[in-house]
Parts: sequence; structure tokens; C-alpha cells
Amino acid sequence: MVSRRRLFAVAAGALVALGGGAAAFVLTREPRAALAPWAEADTHDDARLRALALAILAPNPHNRQPWLFELVGDDTIAVFCDLERRLPETDPFDRQITIGFGSFLELLAMAAADDGHEARITLFPEGEPQPRLDGRPVAVVMFERTSASQPDPLFAHLRVRRSNKEPFDTTRPVPAEALATLVAASPALARASAEPGLVEALRALTFRAFEVEASTPRTHLESIRLLRIGKAEIEASPDGIDIGGAVPELLAAAGLLTREAAADPTSTAFAQTTAMYREIMHTGMAYVWLVTAGNTRADQIAAGRAWVRVNLAATAAGLAAHPVSQALQEYPEMQGEAGALQTLLGVPDDATRVQMLARIGYGPAVPPSPRWPVETRMRPA
Ligand SMILES: Cc1cc2nc3c(=O)[nH]c(=O)nc-3n(C[C@H](O)[C@H](O)[C@H](O)COP(=O)(O)O)c2cc1C
Repeated sequence: MVSRRRLFAVAAGALVALGGGAAAFVLTREPRAALAPWAEADTHDDARLRALALAILAPNPHNRQPWLFELVGDDTIAVFCDLERRLPETDPFDRQITIGFGSFLELLAMAAADDGHEARITLFPEGEPQPRLDGRPVAVVMFERTSASQPDPLFAHLRVRRSNKEPFDTTRPVPAEALATLVAASPALARASAEPGLVEALRALTFRAFEVEASTPRTHLESIRLLRIGKAEIEASPDGIDIGGAVPELLAAAGLLTREAAADPTSTAFAQTTAMYREIMHTGMAYVWLVTAGNTRADQIAAGRAWVRVNLAATAAGLAAHPVSQALQEYPEMQGEAGALQTLLGVPDDATRVQMLARIGYGPAVPPSPRWPVETRMRPA
């Protein structure tokens, strides 16, 4: 068994061996092209493209970026799901993928409003696909120029919003007033608590749910296949679960960080990942969750619109937010945790659905996650 300390010693040793080249190596590990969409200037002539270039920065499950766009006529966008980019094992009914589309549509509407347009969104114009999404449009969005559009104050935080997957500071409680601003971003759907008993129970439950996912081979492998380890892989596929930086890259080069090891429950890499998640999950200082009255596609879109607002409000308040979705997932092995979560949150009725759960706290600054450039998500109408 190789300890975590030993792994980092190997990486540090490799850096020392590089000598004067080490600093240069570390400095060149940023996947610049994969992060360029975060800094893209609003240079497009077409207002729809200007808004789309910002909407693709939306949070979305496993950063699959499942959206595809057609520009229709001179004022409309048709939004489709790239069906190959779904997560059939952990998201068998495409509920979470649909939530990601909700976040995308909320940012699209905000970006349009900031640019003097109203984005008129018609959801699922050819009907709600059930039990899974299909080739029909998720939405059709008409852009109309207006002098009445009011920029949303949350829009200012769009480029600095993150899903923060790091441990949070357990010495810093989340003040009630700060937590209230998250709920105020979407009062109809959002609930929050920093009550110590509930926080403790949710820390334990979210870690247990992580263990269920990781010990169920088909759900675990779904994530493993989406790992992008190091700059070259991230630049080639700017999506999925990106593990960038000099240390992971050196570990990968030394054969100590591989997909095979990560997939193997008896490996050191697996044990280390579990230990890392135990720590992460036990640093939630407060929780936010979103509840819808039903579980229609429209409810899921509403949850996504609410989630990005809550995430932006957290950014505005200097708080880190990390969705922890395992206990919400609908595959048989997760049933126990899913039921326990609904009970813990006092949402027992089957029709009422907890759509999102996130831990909240003060976390370290984290870089943005990769994105495919907007042009690569367009298809001819
Ligand atoms: C419906 C939904 C579920 C998510 N669930 C998780 C999760 O369980 N664990 C996690 O680390 N991130 C989760 N995320 C966050 C995504 O991984 C994240 O949005 C994506 O990687 C892009 O990164 P960004 O939000 O920093 O731009 C979720 C996001 C959405 C919209």
C-alpha cells in the first residue's frame, strides 16, 4: 500500500528532479484553452450567441454540457439534449440532466436581460419526454428587444460562480443572515438549515450515499469513465470530472493515478478517494435544498433555474456551495439513503421531491471548470 504522503513525496521528488524546469512545468499545467470560455469577450454580432456564450457556464451534472443549439430564423434558439451526454447509471430518468438545462436557461434569460432583450422560453414545445429525454427540443427561446429589461443583480457573479468541491473551514459557521440570502434567491423552492443536529445527520448521510455509489460498480464506473487526468486530457475533452494541476499529472505519469486503480475497490487510490470524500462531506457547515411539488420536467427545469440563483447568491455572500446529489439518485441500491433523506428533511410525501441538496460553508478559492466553446455546441437548423 502506498500512503497519500508517499504519493505526494513521489510527486514532490519528481518536481525536484525537474530542477529549474519545475516552476515552468507547474506554471504551464493550466488548461488555458479549456478555460477560455469563462473569459470570452461578448464579441458576437448576434444577441443569441452573446447570451449562449454565457449560458454555457451553467452548473450541470458531471460537467457533461449536454446542450445543443440551433439558431432558427433571426430571433429564436431551439435547445436540444445531446442524448450521448446523459448519465444513465446515476441519473436513469435524466432528472439531473434536465436540472442542468434549467440552470442553463436561467443564465440565458439573465444574459439576454443584461443585453436589452427578453428571452421568451417555451419549455418542451413538442411535449415533456418521459421516462427519459429524447430528440424533441428541451426548449425554444425567442429573443425580443426590449427597453424594459432589468439586469438581475445576481448576473454580476456569473463568471465567478463555482461548484466548490474542497473541504470547507469547520471553524467558520455560516451566519443565519448569509444563509437567508441563499433562500431569498429562490424563495419558492429553497430551504436551508445550519441547525447542528441536522448538519451532523446530513454530513453522515451524504458520505454514506457517496459510499453506496462508489461501491456499486456500474455507477462508480460511470464517473471513472469521465475522469480527465492532466492538461492534455482536459484540453482534448473539456468536460467531465477534471483532475488538473502539476501533482496529479506527475502521479499519472508515474503510474500512480490511473483509471484502473481508481476503479479498483482494493486499490490505494480508491481508499484515498474514499478518505478524501469522508473529509469533504464532513465539512458541510450548513445545507440548502430545493423542493418541488411534483417531479415533472417543468419542475426539474424550475429546480435548475433555482439552483443557479442559489449558487450565485452564495457567490455574492462569499460562501462556497457544493451540490451533493448521491442520496437523491434513483437507482435501486440508493433507495435506503434516498428515503432517509426525504424523512430527515421532512419531505415524506412521494409526490413532493427534493431536487437538489448542497453543502454550504467557507471554502478556498477554486479555478473554473472546463467548457466546450459555444461554437462546438451549435448544429445547423
Ligand atoms: C443537477 C446537478 C447535480 C450535481 N451534483 C453534484 C454532485 O453530486 N457532486 C459534485 O461534486 N458536483 C455536483 N454538481 C456540480 C457539477 O459537477 C458542476 O456544476 C460541474 O462540474 C461544472 O462546474 P461548475 O459548476 O464549477 O461550473 C451538480 C450539478 C448539477 C446541476
